Amino acid sequence: MPAVLDRVCALPVLEQYRRAVVPLATGRVLEVGFGTGLNLPYYAVDRIERLWGLDPGVEMQGRALARIAGLDLDVELIGCSGEEIPMETDSIDTVLVTYTLCSIPDVTQALGEMRRVIKPGGRLLFSEHGLAPEPSVQGWQHRLTPPWRAIAGGCHLNRNVPEMLRESGFRIDRLEQGYFPGMAGWFRPLAFNSWGVATPQ
Ligand SMILES: C[S@@+](CC[C@H](N)C(=O)[O-])C[C@H]1O[C@@H](n2cnc3c(N)ncnc32)[C@H](O)[C@@H]1O
Repeated sequence: MPAVLDRVCALPVLEQYRRAVVPLATGRVLEVGFGTGLNLPYYAVDRIERLWGLDPGVEMQGRALARIAGLDLDVELIGCSGEEIPMETDSIDTVLVTYTLCSIPDVTQALGEMRRVIKPGGRLLFSEHGLAPEPSVQGWQHRLTPPWRAIAGGCHLNRNVPEMLRESGFRIDRLEQGYFPGMAGWFRPLAFNSWGVATPQ
């Protein structure tokens, strides 16, 4: 699984979205769903005090550590799930989450935890695929999600990213949405992306 995730998540089509949100991270940063550390090259390291990379998939830590080596960045890996973040309330300036909300089993609990640890004035940065606007695509997303979940590490195709954020107590300050370039036709259920910045209310 780590090798497959590493290949899929490193697809060049995701680069522009990582580039749009990751450099906005500042201060004490928590990345939820750190995976193999594919966001590391996009951090503005001179604006980061410390980075915690949280992911229950500890088998991915080897690849992540190889990417951390040589970076001028203080990084700590935490082998825990987003539903139970072992950090103090109001202790984090930026939470970053990319292509992870789709696979967290209790995403409401996890977003509540992210909200809890963000300091007043802090932010959540996100880039996540999810529910498309067209009913025809949504229909396929609902139908495909059960088999897709079984083969793709619990990934849901039909989560409504902005709605989940709002219902979990975030105000969305910046939201951009659209299909991954070049992914038309049968790929559409996999390819509707939402990215931006949100603030705990
Ligand atoms: C598709 S990968 C994305 C990895 C990375 N964020 C990226 O953008 O390349 C999804 C990640 O979510 C993680 N994940 C799954 N369940 C989780 C949970 N309950 N809490 C936090 N992360 C979780 C997986 O272990 C995996 O690393």
